[in-house]
Amino acid sequence: MIGRRSLLAGMAATGAALPLQAQVFPPSGYGTPIATSPFPPEVFAERRRKVMAKLGGGIAVVFGAKRGGGDSPVEAPFFQDPDFAWLTGITDEPGAVLVLAPAERRFREYLLLPSRNPEAERWERERLPLGAEIERRSGFARVMRTSNLGALVTGLAERFKEFHFFGPVVGPDSPVPASLELYGKVQQRIPGVKTTDSSKLLTSIRMVKEARELDLITKALAATARGHLAGMTQVQPGWTEGRLKDVIEAGFKAGGADGLAYSSIVGSGRNAASLHYVGNGGAVRAGDMILVDAGASLTGYATDITRTYPASGRFTPKQRSDYELVLQAQEAAASRLRAGVYYEDLQEAARDVFRRDGRIDQFTHGLGHHVGLHVHDAADYSQPIPAGAVMTIEPGLYLQDENYGIRIEDMYLVTATGAQRMSTAIPRTVAEIERAMAR
Ligand code: GLY
Ligand code: MN
Ligand code: MN
Repeated sequence: MIGRRSLLAGMAATGAALPLQAQVFPPSGYGTPIATSPFPPEVFAERRRKVMAKLGGGIAVVFGAKRGGGDSPVEAPFFQDPDFAWLTGITDEPGAVLVLAPAERRFREYLLLPSRNPEAERWERERLPLGAEIERRSGFARVMRTSNLGALVTGLAERFKEFHFFGPVVGPDSPVPASLELYGKVQQRIPGVKTTDSSKLLTSIRMVKEARELDLITKALAATARGHLAGMTQVQPGWTEGRLKDVIEAGFKAGGADGLAYSSIVGSGRNAASLHYVGNGGAVRAGDMILVDAGASLTGYATDITRTYPASGRFTPKQRSDYELVLQAQEAAASRLRAGVYYEDLQEAARDVFRRDGRIDQFTHGLGHHVGLHVHDAADYSQPIPAGAVMTIEPGLYLQDENYGIRIEDMYLVTATGAQRMSTAIPRTVAEIERAMAR
């Protein structure tokens, strides 16, 4: 997020030349939304224009994430819905809603924010009143309160007679998505309003990363590399998994990260065979393989990298041959990855490597996923992979009976002719790892 400090610095630099801005109350940097993040408002306005051009008409309502629940005396960290974040850049206002009306004559987009609660603000943080300042910061000409959502959407539905559903598509046991619930209520009150499934639209656009997004992912990966390297080069038998995790995460921060893409997974020995191991109090023992699945994030952009290495710094012959099998599976998929291929074909290429070795039952999860504003980013796996996609390839072998698991996970940028491994700064082959760990 663009911090309060940088915003104030910007004001100081331009304030003298722009006296009108200096008179705006409250002053810049005061209250949320602080700014659009991580890009200026024009970037998000342009994205919305692009989406609206594809919709043509109708209305789309996109709900932002609500605030965290629970009974903690302090607020849980807020994670904005990635679609909402991609469309608006508003990441510090829980409970916000976006309404798009592409065929509207003048105001085609509305940002709705919950009403202020002065008492809650005394505990948490201040929020801006409606007005010119909030419009300037958000890039929306129409900012309203969510208490107006029903009336706004009803009025628009009467005229445009079509809702667009942006997803996510969820299973029958999950709660009905908020947008569909709202559409259903309006449809019970206005005859002839239809709902169109536009759930593939944002996904297909978001799968192709913009250059500015790739830049942030690259920076986040540099921080991730620093953390993984710190862990790999410093770990000693006798450490706890938690100590290694702390070293890795401190490396992320020192490398410029501002968060974690997900809770770091650090499992030693048998714990490495639990795919998304959640403890961290286990001991790192001399004969163990340590599996580290950890990624830094930067301004909302995720990374996702796994490395597995021997606590002692040297692979045993058995560890080496298993590791090299996993690497071979990763290469089998990576060498086929290019624009136009199907995810399931990559997955089978990797599975074939294990199958040929009689090890297919030890590879117990999917091959990979897209990465972006979410570690498992929006994607349509039934379609050919487009150029500009960022994906992981992460085969593994899990041998609980033998007290270890191996996963190798890298991130790749898909191009028209192939795929570039983006995480080359982190030792990956047996020779690279043993060299990095030589002490
Ligand atoms: N770190 C979670 C995953 O690899 O998908
Ligand atoms: Mn992953
Ligand atoms: Mn991972």
